Amino acid sequence: MNNDMIKTNCMINQNIILTGDRPTGSLHLGHYVGSLKSRVALQHSCKQFILIADMQALTDNFERPKFIKNNILQLMAAYMSVELNPDKNIFVLQSAIPELAELTIHYMNLVHLGRLQRNPTVKHEIEQKSLENSLSIGFLCYPISQAADITAFKANLVPVGQDQVPMIEQTNEIVRKFNRLYYTNCLKECKPYLSDVSRLMGINGAEKAGKSTNNAIFLNESSKSLKEKVFSMYTDSNHIKISDPGQVEGNVVFAYLDAFYNNIEHLNELKQHYKKGGLGDVYLKKLLFDTLENFIAPVRDKYNQYSNDELLDILRTGTEIARKVAKNTLSEIRQALCLTNFKF
Ligand code: TRP
Repeated sequence: MNNDMIKTNCMINQNIILTGDRPTGSLHLGHYVGSLKSRVALQHSCKQFILIADMQALTDNFERPKFIKNNILQLMAAYMSVELNPDKNIFVLQSAIPELAELTIHYMNLVHLGRLQRNPTVKHEIEQKSLENSLSIGFLCYPISQAADITAFKANLVPVGQDQVPMIEQTNEIVRKFNRLYYTNCLKECKPYLSDVSRLMGINGAEKAGKSTNNAIFLNESSKSLKEKVFSMYTDSNHIKISDPGQVEGNVVFAYLDAFYNNIEHLNELKQHYKKGGLGDVYLKKLLFDTLENFIAPVRDKYNQYSNDELLDILRTGTEIARKVAKNTLSEIRQALCLTNFKF
């Protein structure tokens, strides 16, 4: 099924969507192209839960709980700034739904240790954060808690970046095993919904933009620092004189233009020109700066439009609705596990 078909089906079948973010810092353009953009498009036709995964964030930030707490409303402000409409989405705070934690525990029995250790995303994070010698059980198990998030709301579509695909595979393995073992079909399998540009490289040319590694452009980046970041971008180290032929693949400026510059015809001409030689980096960087400033300026304005009380209210309302759904799912799970046979 391609993305257009999914969009059409959304209207017919009322697809249920769940996505989430860890509240560990400001969202950046990588989040936007990888996932926020899809959410904005899907909000009109689907039932969409957006989860602030504060418990998941604690798995590798347990030493700084205040930092996580302080980022929760920041994340809500970011959602509002890209126009995720509070009337069309259900915003959920993970830690306010203890049912998710219980679901996680039930699923833990169905996952082998080796399977978690082989999860490519987890493996990559362990390396990146140098957790090899201090790996906590909580961190290793976060894919299981993510499976709980997804299944609690019976989501069948998960708009995420490429790096989250292993989490969806893990979720579906749990779903199939649970349904088979306990002769039920109460859990639903889900599919990733990948955007056209599912991974945006970092501004220093690293494979992925990351909030922790300081190589990203934030959604509320000031105009001044946007300019600095764009003009510090790596292009092609062999493109020294304007007349030199330049490389487009792996060139950060072109990667960002690909994601944000809408005049595709013009962009293709620029790429040809650059490859041939005679097109300077400064021209391209100016174009990129204007393109990004156009996108970011209204987002930046909206960032501060809502008060903390308003943001909290939106989050509280959504979480109440979501908790009822999660409670229902948990009671089905408990029934399947024969945990409801005695009345206490
Ligand atoms: N792991 C996601 C991230 O790194 C956040 C997340 C938590 C999530 N629960 C989810 C994403 C459920 C999709 C579905 O940002």
